[in-house]
Amino acid sequence: MRFDLLTLHPELVRSPLEHSILGRAQKAGLIQAQVHEIRAFGRGRYRQVDDSPYGGGAGMVMRVDVVHDAIKSVAAEGARVILMSPGGVRFTQAHAKRLSALPQLIFVCGHYEGIDARIEQLVDEELSIGDYVLTGGELAALVIIEAVARLVPGVLGNEASSADESFSNGLIEYPHYTRPRDYEGMEVPEILLSGHHAEIERWRLAQSKARTRARRPDLLPEGGK
Ligand code: ADE
Repeated sequence: MRFDLLTLHPELVRSPLEHSILGRAQKAGLIQAQVHEIRAFGRGRYRQVDDSPYGGGAGMVMRVDVVHDAIKSVAAEGARVILMSPGGVRFTQAHAKRLSALPQLIFVCGHYEGIDARIEQLVDEELSIGDYVLTGGELAALVIIEAVARLVPGVLGNEASSADESFSNGLIEYPHYTRPRDYEGMEVPEILLSGHHAEIERWRLAQSKARTRARRPDLLPEGGK
């Protein structure tokens, strides 16, 4: 699977793509992540990428032709083009799963006051990572790349770990413990030391449900009511 990130700030995103899970997955040939500087497609001697808004107002707007050229330069057959924007659809684990089956994802990361609105007609979808505003789409795109890449077969190494975790079954994950058994009076739940696998499974499911009810009732059917 291939990820292409279009940005005005390539240095902002390079390091996270080269380390840990994403770095390892690239070395293993399971994914490819490429960063492309939008300025390379800028206009004129100064490679201008933005201009003042029609209708007036503060700030600059990224030019649609420049961004479209950047997209066209990387898009292969079957590519999905994703515009990062706080006004997009909120990204969830279900999106991560759907996107992880595609051959190529292209992330368009805007800055300034945004990109000329005609870009919306030239991308496949618009995603937000949450109800807050970042200065650009770069960190948001990294979040999505990380969430998607770890679902690509082989990337996590241990396939069981992505099947078991929070959200994959619609619930928050149960708590994990390791040594020491007693840490400053906080003890590991007795059941986990019992060796009764079926009971441990039951306890874990109950913990998942209780945590979901307490912290994220919105994940339960009818909001947990
Ligand atoms: N760009 C700025 N804020 C963003 C957000 N919350 N999600 C995605 N892209 C963004």
